[in-house]
Amino acid sequence: MVLLRASEVFNMPAIASYEKEYVSRTRRSKAHFERANKVLPAGVESNVRFFPPYPFCVKRAKGPYLYDIDGNKIIDYALGYGPMILGHDHPAVTRAVRAQVGNGMMFGASSELAVEYIDMVRKAMPSIEMFRFANSGTEATMHPMRVARAFTGKEKIAKAEGAYHGGHDYALQGVDIPGSELRAKTRQHSVPFGKGIPKCISDLMVMYPFNDWGATEEVITRNADELAAVIVEPVQAGGGCFVPRDDYLGRLRRLTADLGIVLIFDEVLTGFRVAFGGAQERYGVKPDITCIAKIAGGGYQLAGFGGRRDIMQEIVPKSGGNVYHGGTYNAHPVSVTGGLATLEILSRPGTYRRIDMIGDSLFHGLRDAAKDRGVDVWVESVGSLGQMYFTDKEVATWRDSLDVDHEKWRHWFMHSLGRGVFFGVPHADEHFFTSLAHSDTDIQRSIEISDEAFKEIARGR
Ligand SMILES: Cc1ncc(COP(=O)(O)O)c(C=O)c1O
Repeated sequence: MVLLRASEVFNMPAIASYEKEYVSRTRRSKAHFERANKVLPAGVESNVRFFPPYPFCVKRAKGPYLYDIDGNKIIDYALGYGPMILGHDHPAVTRAVRAQVGNGMMFGASSELAVEYIDMVRKAMPSIEMFRFANSGTEATMHPMRVARAFTGKEKIAKAEGAYHGGHDYALQGVDIPGSELRAKTRQHSVPFGKGIPKCISDLMVMYPFNDWGATEEVITRNADELAAVIVEPVQAGGGCFVPRDDYLGRLRRLTADLGIVLIFDEVLTGFRVAFGGAQERYGVKPDITCIAKIAGGGYQLAGFGGRRDIMQEIVPKSGGNVYHGGTYNAHPVSVTGGLATLEILSRPGTYRRIDMIGDSLFHGLRDAAKDRGVDVWVESVGSLGQMYFTDKEVATWRDSLDVDHEKWRHWFMHSLGRGVFFGVPHADEHFFTSLAHSDTDIQRSIEISDEAFKEIARGR
């Protein structure tokens, strides 16, 4: 996860040899960035979009490609940071949305469409007995934390270190931990991510290390009396990509059930990606509450959370009070239509076999190409989601990922971008995705272009 560093934005380092092609092909993007920088902090709409020397500027997107303002056609593995699993501008989704726009943009009242959508979500994730809409992944994790507090009468929430659950103050804890803090403090120490977050919020958050069961069990058991909920990305994509090992999720389920703690799966990124029913289907574990966003809206702003009826009932007005939940744009008809059309396509038999096959061909192909060149990499992936770490060790936990070689990653990433392949969220501690729109040719070309970078990296250039 990227906290923009001043040196990156203001003191641009000299252009490295592997960046030259990118720079020579993106002159208009550079001019755009200089203009944007005057009115947009750091020249970008969301911090994570910035990368040095400057990000490219997109004009349009279609299928697996982005087209930038310099006329470059770019194979896209960032896919809107997750939502575009069908590729950009899928004809069936665009058609459905166009028809809906003609029926009115915004109702601010109940619609049959919303319940139809929830039925589709429940088909994918039967653990969701009741559901409420939101507009972003950030909202989708913020509300259920409050609901869990009301349900249990306890105040603290446990989250995994390195995990990302959005931009609210409770979620922005232990997202990135400065090296000194990391080594000096005990594991469950909660550190705010960036400035402006009240200190008292850290006191309400407890950190545990995803995929390290012994330490996780110890932290949760010790804090059980105060813990309302454990929130987890069931495949941790905050800080990279870490696939659960050794029945980690099953153990988390049993422990939280025994201790009376609400288990929240943040499936904002994994939902409808690692299976139609998300990680809970893929790993066979049933959470109490699930958060969804990204693919849920098929590229439009739609999110939500849902789960056990008795917990969700905390939202229902009753004597003695209830939990607040609302939002002007909740269940926006255009977003619901985009989401429904997307989920309908994804629900077809055989879809996820194909999605996984495309993902495996890229991730395994990259790993094999690097190894053939004698470059040490650890590729961590599940289906269409993964990351390539430059290291000779296994990367199973967020802490494992702290020592990997970022400079080699940057060499591979910028070399590839210069040749028209955008390998995902533009930071070494993030991840990239494949979509149903990527063809064998796209994948082969991406591996060939990567291979050129591996060759240079192996030569130490
Ligand atoms: C797992 C997870 N949760 C929550 C969020 C926040 O979602 P949004 O950016 O829609 O607020 C993200 C965004 O990347 C995410 O990956």
